[in-house]
Amino acid sequence: MKKIALKKVLSKFNLLPIIEQINFRRQKWQNRRSNYEFKKKNPTVKLPPDFYLYETFNLNYDKFYTNGKPTATWLINHISEFKDFKNLSILDWGCGTGRILRHLPSILDTSNSFYGSDYNKKYVKWCSENLEGIQFKNNYLKPPLAFKDDSMDIIYGISIFTHLSKELHFSWIHELTRVLKNGGILFLTTHGDAHTFKLLQKEQVLYDSGNLIVHAYKKEGNRLYASYQSPKFFRALCSKNNLEVLKHIPGDNLNNKPQQDVWVLRLTKN
Ligand SMILES: C[S@@+](CC[C@H](N)C(=O)[O-])C[C@H]1O[C@@H](n2cnc3c(N)ncnc32)[C@H](O)[C@@H]1O
Repeated sequence: MKKIALKKVLSKFNLLPIIEQINFRRQKWQNRRSNYEFKKKNPTVKLPPDFYLYETFNLNYDKFYTNGKPTATWLINHISEFKDFKNLSILDWGCGTGRILRHLPSILDTSNSFYGSDYNKKYVKWCSENLEGIQFKNNYLKPPLAFKDDSMDIIYGISIFTHLSKELHFSWIHELTRVLKNGGILFLTTHGDAHTFKLLQKEQVLYDSGNLIVHAYKKEGNRLYASYQSPKFFRALCSKNNLEVLKHIPGDNLNNKPQQDVWVLRLTKN
């Protein structure tokens, strides 16, 4: 049976939470040695509860923490072509457990200010209690953000639109442009062509003609709710919201490990 059909059946009979628990335990078991070694070598590194890691990324402490730093540097390098990282307000929208954001204060200089926002209250609580030099806020699944108009120079959202419906694509992109300053940079990732092997043939046709495709096995915002943004769809969304595409880097699909597309956008306010 195709994975997509299997997921539909599991979702229909409300079996996904059980499968989630099984997958969580399996990941915990598979990573037990590496996680034990990591804790032994890095006793002072603050780690979120295992289930939070599983839900937002991967239950592997080394991948989460050690690889989080080069990912933060990768993000900065993309944006620094367009912004000098001095006196900037930077927001991680959908910060999860701070995988990337926690590293920014140690990479960038102290003239910058750092903010994180997520709709999951548990993650925001953990981040607020454990990560220093960053202000964290809660938002709801739907806008608004708890930030004023024109208050951010940079907003990034890694793997957030990938879990939202069409309606929320429209309302969130609008909200992000409210909070972003004129000339501000928006850095987003999407499920582009590298992920289309997960689509049914009829969905592929719709995707190719510029539609958003949604696989909803859970409420949106959750990682079991996946949406696929054809570049045509995403470009149109940006253009309607005065966002100029500075960079679009399609993700690769190496060894069946598809990467997300990267979008670096600049806002022009009238
Ligand atoms: C796949 S995780 C990625 C977390 C983080 N960006 C990272 O790269 O490690 C998706 C995150 O988006 C958050 N999220 C989903 N919908 C959201 C929304 N409408 N507003 C804010 N956060 C949202 C989830 O709670 C989760 O933390």
